[in-house]
Amino acid sequence: MPRRAGRHFLQIPGPTNVPERVLRAIDFPTMDHRGPDFAALGKSVLAGMKRVFKTTHGDVVIYPASGTGAWEAALVNTLSPGERVLMAETGHFALLWSKMAARLNLEVEFLPGDWRRGADPEAIEKRLRADAQKSIRAVCVVHNETSTGVVSRIPEIRKAIDAAGHPALFMVDTISSLASIDYRHDEWNVDVTVAGSQKGLMLPPGLSFNCISAKALAASKAARLPRSYWAWDEMIANGKGGYFPYTPATNLLYGLREALAMLDEEGLEAVFARHQRHGEATRRAVRAWGLEVLALDPREYSGSLTAVLLPAGHDADRVRTLILEAFDMSLGTGLGKLAGKVFRIGHLGDFNDLTLAGTLAGVEMGLALAGVPVKKEGVQAALAYLAECRAKPARAAA
Ligand SMILES: Cc1ncc(COP(=O)(O)O)c(C=O)c1O
Repeated sequence: MPRRAGRHFLQIPGPTNVPERVLRAIDFPTMDHRGPDFAALGKSVLAGMKRVFKTTHGDVVIYPASGTGAWEAALVNTLSPGERVLMAETGHFALLWSKMAARLNLEVEFLPGDWRRGADPEAIEKRLRADAQKSIRAVCVVHNETSTGVVSRIPEIRKAIDAAGHPALFMVDTISSLASIDYRHDEWNVDVTVAGSQKGLMLPPGLSFNCISAKALAASKAARLPRSYWAWDEMIANGKGGYFPYTPATNLLYGLREALAMLDEEGLEAVFARHQRHGEATRRAVRAWGLEVLALDPREYSGSLTAVLLPAGHDADRVRTLILEAFDMSLGTGLGKLAGKVFRIGHLGDFNDLTLAGTLAGVEMGLALAGVPVKKEGVQAALAYLAECRAKPARAAA
């Protein structure tokens, strides 16, 4: 391959671009993970993650694993073989989580969905009300479905569970929403929050997280699914001193400490607002091209990514390939039943107005190269919106 000048644009919806500060923080000698210096590192990242999850009384555990490991940890720590879980078909990742649950010998009820909307709070309430025996032990929802760019309304689902008077645990996958889209573990009374390092947290892949409520911890005492590597009890006991029961991913934890400092400096609310702004700018670009955003309900639009539907007869993967070859930019592929139909633009993590401008320019040029009939007005529409956002606070200050 000939050398490509300039920086690769990694605009898949995670792993995201790792900022220089985080790369530099990782690039330090590995330390003794049983030594005194490690305790300070361990305590500081656990405390920082609590702030990001917005929990004061939950426990946090950090696994040297991808997000899939944290999915498994949530299930095996809280449930017993043959128990029933209610999951919502929001897209490819919800489907993968449900397949994992079935493989773990759980009884999965999968509420059907069309992959264009989030989990339906009314359908969840109805199903839970019908469960007179209270045999459903957990409700599992993907907050931001990365395959579709649709956000499920977690507070409304919490209300639905409460309205049904149902004791099921509530588990939420925030792998592509944490530190990008507003999320509140305590306030929304979530029992297990699942997260990963490689998206809003701006780290390479390799760390994943469970944030655990007191109710989930109590359930773990009676749960009988086999577990060892994922077991919370030893993780939590060691974590109190800042340590791990096994060798942690030390250098990724250096990176996590830096990423948490960056999130603190910007402020989580500003981080969420930035993602919302870039989501809206992207959707305006898509519409100005004359294309369709996959997400149907404006209450469920994602600040992390936008899935773009192509007109019939146009292959989204061909567009992606042309864009990679011509402009050195990676976009997300259509997953599962969306293969070839959509491409996904990641606008999460370490991302600003100019990264968005470059990304959308690459997409606009790529669509033209691929012969997709679009109006070349998307970038302009996005920039106009960004300018409007800049003018608004200035007017308010004046
Ligand atoms: C919402 C969601 N859940 C789960 C996963 C699986 O995580 P991993 O690929 O890190 O194992 C992903 C990965 O992209 C995801 O986006």
